[in-house]
Amino acid sequence: MHYPYQITSLEQYHRDYRRSTEDPEGFWSEVAEQFQWRRKWDRVLQWNFREPKVEWFGGAQLNITENCIDRHLSGKGEQPAFIWEPNNPEDRVRVVTYNRLHKRVCQFAQVLTNLGVKKGDRVCIYMGMVPELAYAVLGCARIGAIHSVIFGGFSAQSIADRLEDAQAEYIVTADGAYRGEKVIPLKSVIDDALIGNRTVKKVIVYTRTRTPVSMIKGRDVWWEDEMEYAESQVEKDGIVSFPAVATDAEDPLFILYTSGSTGKPKGVVHSTAGYMVWTNYTFVNTFQYKPGQVHFCTADIGWITGHSYIVYGPLSAGATSLMFEGIPTWPDAGRFWDIVQKHKVNILYTAPTAIRSLMGFGLEPLKDKDLSSLQVLGTVGEPINEEAWHWYDEHVGHKQSPIVDTWWQTETGGVLISNLAGVTPAIPSWASLPMPGVQPLLVDENGAEITGNPASGNLCIRAPWPSILRTTWGDHERCRQTYFSTYEGLYFTGDGALRDEHGNYRITGRVDDVLNVSGHRIGTAEVENAINMHSDVVESAVVGYPHDIKGQGIYAYVICTNLRGSEEDTRKNIIQTVSRIIGPIAKPDRIQFVSGLPKTRSGKIMRRILRKIAEGETANLGDTTTLLDPGVVEEIKNGKL
Ligand code: PRX
Repeated sequence: MHYPYQITSLEQYHRDYRRSTEDPEGFWSEVAEQFQWRRKWDRVLQWNFREPKVEWFGGAQLNITENCIDRHLSGKGEQPAFIWEPNNPEDRVRVVTYNRLHKRVCQFAQVLTNLGVKKGDRVCIYMGMVPELAYAVLGCARIGAIHSVIFGGFSAQSIADRLEDAQAEYIVTADGAYRGEKVIPLKSVIDDALIGNRTVKKVIVYTRTRTPVSMIKGRDVWWEDEMEYAESQVEKDGIVSFPAVATDAEDPLFILYTSGSTGKPKGVVHSTAGYMVWTNYTFVNTFQYKPGQVHFCTADIGWITGHSYIVYGPLSAGATSLMFEGIPTWPDAGRFWDIVQKHKVNILYTAPTAIRSLMGFGLEPLKDKDLSSLQVLGTVGEPINEEAWHWYDEHVGHKQSPIVDTWWQTETGGVLISNLAGVTPAIPSWASLPMPGVQPLLVDENGAEITGNPASGNLCIRAPWPSILRTTWGDHERCRQTYFSTYEGLYFTGDGALRDEHGNYRITGRVDDVLNVSGHRIGTAEVENAINMHSDVVESAVVGYPHDIKGQGIYAYVICTNLRGSEEDTRKNIIQTVSRIIGPIAKPDRIQFVSGLPKTRSGKIMRRILRKIAEGETANLGDTTTLLDPGVVEEIKNGKL
């Protein structure tokens, strides 16, 4: 047995689950013993959901990179930590051993130090999926700087907002990023984001695409130059070292921005020790990782899934993590299968939207692909429909590989509800059972717990697990309001769920104004704000509607004045505006021009009605008598798209 806390039978799952709720402190201190600490904890857990305040392993000190890298060097120095598959399959694969990773992370930590970055400083990272992105993340962690990775698809405006909110002083970026046939000019987006910015002192630019960039003297430096200089500082007589900074268990490790039901994304803050223990524990248990296996998580490190299951979870477990630069459909829709075959991938972890999109290409791209290395399949990000589940099971897993349906959120840091591969039963479309340490419950709209099974309600969690968010950056009250005030004494997930007779959970989707488009979280208010920036727009209302591939599509009802061009041109312009303000991921799929919106007498938009119309369910719109002007509903119903 390589991981003493790996659950290997259904009986053990039940035993460990029971123990984790009866004696959480004993349970988690045993797991935590398996990590490397500079100083052990004084107390395992202190918490209340009132403020909220959660502290795991209080008094302990550690450096997460020593756990993710240094402790593997003696036994696994020459084992690949990362296998990197480039965008273009003809280009060279890069294999980064733990020794090499150690050297690069030490070098980059030195670079940051040379540039003046200190513990607690915020470093924003805006890069494509290259190993240097992981070096940047880990380099920050090595010196206790707080990283905030921004997905490469976000616009200059979105970046500017995040830089401002985090008061970031440093940026790591690249000249560009490859995504299929496209080149994204990252540095020039950063330049735009920095117009008017007063806090950023240094921008480190990695060369990937040789896209022309302008460098501002004194502010912008090249990654390659800095790394070369740092090499001579960290390597002496062939021995590499850069002393890792000791951080407190509760020091923030990173900020990751995510959308909520208000217009402004919030910076979810994760702390160090609890996050490390949880990502490791859930990685080892959910996927049943065995040393030597190749784990391929197809997410981008710009999202929480990449943080937890490309970087921190796998590396802290000494695993081999495959990192893919490109997209699933380029050069063709067989790309994932080529990667599985080429690198003998054992665990494949992807999103339902990717599965549905690949299903659309039929079975041809799978023909003659050797997928026999696969042992475990996983999904994350949105509910998986049964059709997609069965397709994944039959055509990818050949009914030999258990599928784990992992439910979690940016705020939860790691998986909370999922079957454990081959250990607890897989049920199509059901995330199934909570991980040890997770106490889910369902409540009705008044906050009363729904006991008994089967049940349906809003999903809450009763007590903290080690990687629960600690705060939202710069605004603790917002954290309290958003997650801990809807239902007193509970963490509210924002999701609805069903529970069956056996205590399995099926997540039905968000119950707030948050959309899940291709597994990306987007707030309706954010999209509305962006649409309203268009000069012809008076007001808008955005809702989700079922979309075959994306899960949810974005449907916008828009009131315009002075329609200057044709409706079609205005539509295009609005879409461009959203792309510019938020990023292409938030582009509306449908725009309907209307003359009014269904509002109550107190001025509240009745989204329920708009949702039904967007879904095409116009027959039964429910009670519309409270509307200020019921006539508007008729117009919207009859309006063309
Ligand atoms: O609605 C749930 C959905 O994704 C939301 C969280 O999004 P985000 O913070 O971007 O994190 C995504 C990756 C962890 C949740 O509130 N969601 C996530 N996983 C599942 C899911 N819905 C159903 N089933 C899942 N397995």
